Amino acid sequence: MKDKSAKTNFQIHELLTRRWSPRAFDAQKIEKEKLQRIFEAARWSPSASNEQPWHFIIGEKGDETFARIFETLVEFNQLWVKTAPLAGIIVGRENLLSNGKINFWYKYDVGQAAAHMSFQATHEGLFVHQMGGFDREKARELFHIPEGFEAISAFTIGYIGDYNVLHPNLQRLELEERTRKSTDEFVFSDNFGKKSELI
Ligand SMILES: Cc1cc2nc3c(=O)[nH]c(=O)nc-3n(C[C@H](O)[C@H](O)[C@H](O)COP(=O)(O)O)c2cc1C
Repeated sequence: MKDKSAKTNFQIHELLTRRWSPRAFDAQKIEKEKLQRIFEAARWSPSASNEQPWHFIIGEKGDETFARIFETLVEFNQLWVKTAPLAGIIVGRENLLSNGKINFWYKYDVGQAAAHMSFQATHEGLFVHQMGGFDREKARELFHIPEGFEAISAFTIGYIGDYNVLHPNLQRLELEERTRKSTDEFVFSDNFGKKSELI
């Protein structure tokens, strides 16, 4: 298995270093206790006004929920998601429970819950791969997602698998170097775009 840990410029928490988005998963089922802890982590994510606008639909390979999630995916994602033991869709609630108005931060909060989920999964020896490549309207239909809610992203969770089972083009991606912008490009002081001297 190739080591895809982040090559960081400064030392960060090893959970953050270890997380990456594989496409080859092992068929091994995920233990229920681990899944409970993973979604407990999402539960304790922060959100604007504590609105907790996240909802997760999850299915195991072989069940009806998994099959429906799979059906919503773009072809490219179907190529590799077939190796995953668990798939999910994250649905966000657009309106505030308190007054019914649009919650500007709902997608931001859904993303934070996904991050919490990912790091707990990493802690459990698992990997998460999030996906924007799926048909949101199909997900709405197949899962009867009501108005006022939106399917925002799909994901898989599983133990890492052997990349040799993947299509050759995907194997290449699995071996590719991971890259990031430098912090100079996104941490600013003074004006937007001006590199901060604080770090
Ligand atoms: C919102 C979101 C959508 C993504 N959509 C896809 C996707 O449809 N298919 C895919 O293979 N990877 C997808 N990815 C994975 C990204 O390509 C990946 O996170 C990015 O290249 C950084 O790599 P790393 O997660 O291994 O650090 C998505 C990730 C996020 C957070």
